[in-house]
Amino acid sequence: MSIIDYAQNWPMKIKEQLASDLLKDKTVMITGASDGIGAELSKCLGLLGANIILLGKTRQKLEAVFDQVAPICQGELIITPCDLSRLEQEDIRKLHDSIENEFKGLDALIHCASILGPKVPLAHYPPDAWAEVMMTNANSVFLLNQGLFDLLEAGERSCVIHVSSTVGRKARAYWGAYAVSKFAVEGISQILADETEDQGKMKVFSINPGATRTKMRKEAYPFEDSKTVPDASTLMPLFSLLVIGSLLDCSLSRDLPGTGGQIDARTWEFPN
Ligand SMILES: NC(=O)c1ccc[n+]([C@@H]2O[C@H](COP(=O)([O-])OP(=O)(O)OC[C@H]3O[C@@H](n4cnc5c(N)ncnc54)[C@H](OP(=O)(O)O)[C@@H]3O)[C@@H](O)[C@H]2O)c1
Repeated sequence: MSIIDYAQNWPMKIKEQLASDLLKDKTVMITGASDGIGAELSKCLGLLGANIILLGKTRQKLEAVFDQVAPICQGELIITPCDLSRLEQEDIRKLHDSIENEFKGLDALIHCASILGPKVPLAHYPPDAWAEVMMTNANSVFLLNQGLFDLLEAGERSCVIHVSSTVGRKARAYWGAYAVSKFAVEGISQILADETEDQGKMKVFSINPGATRTKMRKEAYPFEDSKTVPDASTLMPLFSLLVIGSLLDCSLSRDLPGTGGQIDARTWEFPN
């Protein structure tokens, strides 16, 4: 499969720009790459020729994504099993050094990894589960952005994409630590954008993907008919625009939302 086949139904304005070596020599790290939206992103950015660091919790699942992406990816693929709920400075230092040795820098960091945690009232929310959700979904985002910041600054341009949620913008009963962790992620995104805007090299976004057919969606809505929910491939034109428009000086750069933008994928329309 080529990116042209993959992107058949995308808006013409993006489709015209696509090529299998468009992101050649660009290095992207995707957390949560072993499943759902992160796995689809790995495939899409692989088809665009990027080097991809796939980070996820479960080694076997990462290997399965690797096996799927490797035959279609022109760039290098690296799997990095890592439990973000137990992320320590030493893990980040090793990750930093291996990216620096292999690629010199990091062009894009996309935070997809998340867990849902229990859906119960705050009055009954188990504190251990609260800590695990906050660490996996929010604290690890801060720690990775901080620990890899100099690699993101090493090149001419870079981008950081934070995957958020509807309940990270307007909270709802029973969504507990998941919702609070996404409010935190929105905050991290806005602060990082504000702190880097003057320099103009780094673009920072938060995306609410909206309902997407994945394992997490099934866990959150077990009785929903999955067939009625769009799959992760429908999000790829937006993610591709953000990555390509941020990293390359091309016509898509003019269609980028401003840094710090909070994008709602399901209502987003490609600018005319
Ligand atoms: N799907 C939706 O409808 C929806 C809606 C709104 C927002 N989102 C957001 O979209 C993003 C992607 O969600 P998804 O639906 O694709 O979820 P998913 O299919 O459940 O995938 C979650 C990913 O996160 C990884 N992960 C979980 N805990 C981890 C840990 N401790 N350390 C490292 N990796 C860990 C998983 O790795 P393992 O598989 O190895 O555990 C997996 O790769 C999330 O940020 C989610 O909050 C999704």
